[in-house]
Amino acid sequence: MKIRFTEDLDNIEYAIRGLVPLAREAAKKGKKIIYLNIGDPLKYDFKTPKHIIEAAYNASMRDNRNYYGESQGISELREAISEHEKRINNVEISPNDIIVTQGVSEGISFICRILLDRGDEALVPSPSYPLYINVPELYHAKPVEYNVVEEDGWIPDVDDIRKKINDKTRFITIINPNNPTGSVYSEKVIRNIIDIAGEYGIPIVSDEIYNQIVFDGRFISPASISKDVPVFVLNGFSKAYLMTGWRLGYIYIHDPSGENRERAINLIMKMAMIRLSANTPAQYGAVAALRGPQDHIKEINRRFRERSELMYKRLSEMPGISVVKPKGTFYIFPRISREIFSGDDKKFVKKLLLDTGVFVVYGSGFGETGVGHFRAVTLPPEDTIGEAMDKIEEFIEKIS
Ligand SMILES: Cc1ncc(COP(=O)(O)O)c(C=O)c1O
Repeated sequence: MKIRFTEDLDNIEYAIRGLVPLAREAAKKGKKIIYLNIGDPLKYDFKTPKHIIEAAYNASMRDNRNYYGESQGISELREAISEHEKRINNVEISPNDIIVTQGVSEGISFICRILLDRGDEALVPSPSYPLYINVPELYHAKPVEYNVVEEDGWIPDVDDIRKKINDKTRFITIINPNNPTGSVYSEKVIRNIIDIAGEYGIPIVSDEIYNQIVFDGRFISPASISKDVPVFVLNGFSKAYLMTGWRLGYIYIHDPSGENRERAINLIMKMAMIRLSANTPAQYGAVAALRGPQDHIKEINRRFRERSELMYKRLSEMPGISVVKPKGTFYIFPRISREIFSGDDKKFVKKLLLDTGVFVVYGSGFGETGVGHFRAVTLPPEDTIGEAMDKIEEFIEKIS
């Protein structure tokens, strides 16, 4: 018996994990792999703060809070998120307008599901975090990439956003601070995007997962300055609270006119109910994350910055590589010049992996503008970064 499967997934590709089987194969053959592919601090020498673990442990092991939580998220956590958003982003948001998700990943699915019908378009940055390209496609909608300009420090091209808006456009995505480029947008850029969104009556989807990982410049949430444009904000605990595996995030809608709030929450709640709830003990951990000591954030930013600067310095000294200095996050997105590698970026990355064991992600996996680039994670300890950079340098010398 041959089963008939959907064809919808055939063209879906998640570049960040796509080459993992190849890396495993190389490792099996004895190659030492240096993983610079996944933005997970816990895979390196960063640990979830103890008070967060204790709170989740107590919830589960001592207090038996091992039940399904409310689909919207436990009220303590939504209250803590509301206080936190006021404190760090100056956004007033009621706990009733917050929905806890299983990571920002689930938030992206929820938002695309409630805003996109078949044939609709979502404006996404190019390069973009791959989910913003994959998920609209999953829902039979079309991600339309707007240019982000490398020469300007990877800043969105507002004129290109305007050019690509049409009557099928359902939202404009902003990822700031940005994965994969490490850029942090100025208030002016954010205001320009809000202005266009207002002019055409289109909401903004703002991915703020790196909002506390900034070492040059200042993060501004569009929700804190938008006076008329609705903003769907996505944020989570994976990065600043070192909780990647806990799978927790949240969505809220900033809706200045109040016209959309109820419908938006109702629809998101339908999605939330279908999947019952996020992990309950983990949510108690997240309450401790937001209400407990925040000292680790300064400390990890110091380490993230040192490592990012080291990798930037090494890459910018390499012939054939040009690179914009990251201002936040833990990514860097260098360009490979055509002189050293005339083939595509996927081939470059595969060859780099097989020849040297250094595992980075091919730039085209982040969209059109990513072609000819690669993304490296700047998280490893200095000596690992040094070793990886030596290997990349030797590799480039060899293929030049
Ligand atoms: C821009 C961006 N959004 C969302 C996610 C997914 O995060 P989460 O762990 O909350 O699902 C990531 C993960 O790397 C990301 O870089």
